[in-house]
Amino acid sequence: MKLWQGRFEEAGDPVFEKMNRSLGIDAVLLDEDIRASRAHARALFGCGVLTEAEWQDIDRGLEQILTEYTPEQVKATPYEDIHTFVEATLAQKIGQAAFKLHTGRSRNDQVATDFRLFVRKAISLVLADLDALDSALTESGNANTDVLLPAYTHLRRAQPIRWSAYCAAFIEMFRRDRERFEQSVGRVDVLPLGSGAVAGSNFPVDREAIARELGFSRISRSTVDATCDRDFVIEFLSNAAIAMVHASRLAEDWIIYSTEEFGFLELSEKVTTGSSLMPQKKNPDGLELIRAKAGVMTGLLTGFLVVMKGLPTAYDKDLQEDKEAFFSAFNTLRLALSVLRLTVRTVVLNKERMAAAAADSFMGATDLADFLVVKGVPFRTAHETVGRAVRDAIANRQQLNEIDLMAYSPLFADLPADYLAPMNIVNRKGGASSLHGLSSR
Ligand code: ARG
Repeated sequence: MKLWQGRFEEAGDPVFEKMNRSLGIDAVLLDEDIRASRAHARALFGCGVLTEAEWQDIDRGLEQILTEYTPEQVKATPYEDIHTFVEATLAQKIGQAAFKLHTGRSRNDQVATDFRLFVRKAISLVLADLDALDSALTESGNANTDVLLPAYTHLRRAQPIRWSAYCAAFIEMFRRDRERFEQSVGRVDVLPLGSGAVAGSNFPVDREAIARELGFSRISRSTVDATCDRDFVIEFLSNAAIAMVHASRLAEDWIIYSTEEFGFLELSEKVTTGSSLMPQKKNPDGLELIRAKAGVMTGLLTGFLVVMKGLPTAYDKDLQEDKEAFFSAFNTLRLALSVLRLTVRTVVLNKERMAAAAADSFMGATDLADFLVVKGVPFRTAHETVGRAVRDAIANRQQLNEIDLMAYSPLFADLPADYLAPMNIVNRKGGASSLHGLSSR
């Protein structure tokens, strides 16, 4: 069965049908399509298009379909898309009344409605995933507030920080992601149904009532826009791509930190693999895949933006590609966040290796300059003075705390012996680097 065969004499070519069919992807909208159809049927009864008996038959029939089919089973049927499947299956169950369901509705406003219902649900799942990752990072930070490691800039040792300060950076990133997803909900939460194909419906369906039934807080105002607006998909892809960039940066850090050369972290066997050839290998595949999928995610966003950019107003079939991009992004993001959380929960910190790296006294060079500043030396001069000490120490293969600083400035006379101890460097600073505990969200 087709929803549009009347004006055609021929059947579509199988190779075209293969391209046109979206059921393999939109079957997961089964629940949403049925909920939206039930709300539409009630509205059709409300404005006199359906008798009460017809509405009741349609409503019960739709409910039954939901109990009888899973999206997986729907995928195996031969229909064009989820909307065709539901209408055809309803007709098999209740007969002629089913063919009244599509009155005053187009698949254009229907699919936009189904999809918004799904995306709204999807966002709440992503928010839960972000919260779980947040807890894992908060726990790791709080359990290791006194573990010091070098903070790197340009991937060169910069200044020592606490592990909790390191974790705080990613907690902040993922909290911004949470905020972005949360703020996007208001723009997803709009009912398009009632917009018809593009110009609205000839039947006075009560759109406010449909919105209430489906839990939308607003109804769309422009029928033209509502049928072709996919900003909510672009926003999801964008938010997902940004979150994946954060995940990828954490992944990259930990890939480096877990090398034999760094040895700061031991990744769990739960998220690593061996080599088929080299028996000694333990490879960080989980983190590498997260890093790679961040790239693929960027492609989904870019790809869909390009799909949208040249579209004539209003609905064009190009829009059908929205779902493949979205579902792929949604599944990838959730998987990546789960694997990342597992990685954080199971990582073992090599505190000694981190402490040894954090004890590199060159990372106290700024503190030495600031010591002179407190004595009244202009910072630029102090920087220059300590810079010379650094240069000589490197040339003599000494640590900065091993050379005679008095040779560079007599003001170092009363420098405390433990001035360059890493924990003192950390504690001297305000802000998150000296933060003891992280608060949960
Ligand atoms: N499967 C289609 C989609 O996802 C449904 C809308 C089809 N509308 C149309 N006018 N051909 O966009």
